[in-house]
Amino acid sequence: MIAKNKTRIQLPGDQSNFAIAVQHLTVSYGPVPALLDISVQVPSGKLVGVIGPNGSGKSTFIKSILGFVKPDVGKVELFGEDTSHTKDRVAYVPQRGTVDWDFPITVREVAAMGRYGKRRWWQDLKKEDYAAADEALEKVRMSEFSTRQIGQLSGGQQQRVFMARALTQNADVLLLDEPFAGVDAATERAILDVLHETKENGKTVVVVHHDLATAAEFFDLLLLLKQRLFAFGPPRQVLDPELLADVYEGNLRVFADLAQSMRSS
Ligand SMILES: Nc1ncnc2c1ncn2[C@@H]1O[C@H](COP(=O)(O)OP(=O)(O)O)[C@@H](O)[C@H]1O
Ligand SMILES: [Mg+2]
Repeated sequence: MIAKNKTRIQLPGDQSNFAIAVQHLTVSYGPVPALLDISVQVPSGKLVGVIGPNGSGKSTFIKSILGFVKPDVGKVELFGEDTSHTKDRVAYVPQRGTVDWDFPITVREVAAMGRYGKRRWWQDLKKEDYAAADEALEKVRMSEFSTRQIGQLSGGQQQRVFMARALTQNADVLLLDEPFAGVDAATERAILDVLHETKENGKTVVVVHHDLATAAEFFDLLLLLKQRLFAFGPPRQVLDPELLADVYEGNLRVFADLAQSMRSS
């Protein structure tokens, strides 16, 4: 029997190690809340996948951690501080196709923009900032496009440049919204390697992910959302067929994906 409206799995833990603490968070755009009474504590140094059906509030959850949306109720803290004070500790890679570039700026300049947080606005970016940008572009395998205008890249390539920009920020928390959507296998590998390396450097990485088949393989922890928080914990616990049946309401595609992931893990 599924306990409705109860988060079934939650990590116990030591308060001091949490990167992100969400308490009773409710966010609405209209009459129906996109997120309802979410409470969760994300430990630092983990690679966390946020899963759930379309419209389940995944992007809203990420935007709440960024402080981009105002809660109706509840609060979000990063390292014990309100999100209004933590802007320079988070980096964000938006969902693909949500940014429209119509002004001329090169790939290298976009990547270097991540360094602005480290500079006063009247200072120009310095040699070391461009060095950081070049290093990040190398990591996301976009070096060869460094002098290209950002508007002349495919959606997937643009997204890798945003990732490079996020890396140059060297933030403590890295948030990515569906970075694997529509990328080829080589790009997927490149992104995953970067996320792992970021985690190994002690950062906390939170990734919206729509593919249950790869969720167990990619992430240390999974957070299952559908307006409410249904589960948060190790993939083997969260990818529970009964729980998923409840959240995805019998979507057959999801079960095919899951069966595949169980076979391959
Ligand atoms: N800017 C917005 N204005 C109005 N409704 C929104 C807005 N953004 C999201 N929503 C609604 O909030 C719900 C959650 O959306 P979202 O967080 O984007 O879900 P997901 O990323 O899981 O697909 C959906 O019902 C969506 O239509
Ligand atoms: Mg979304």
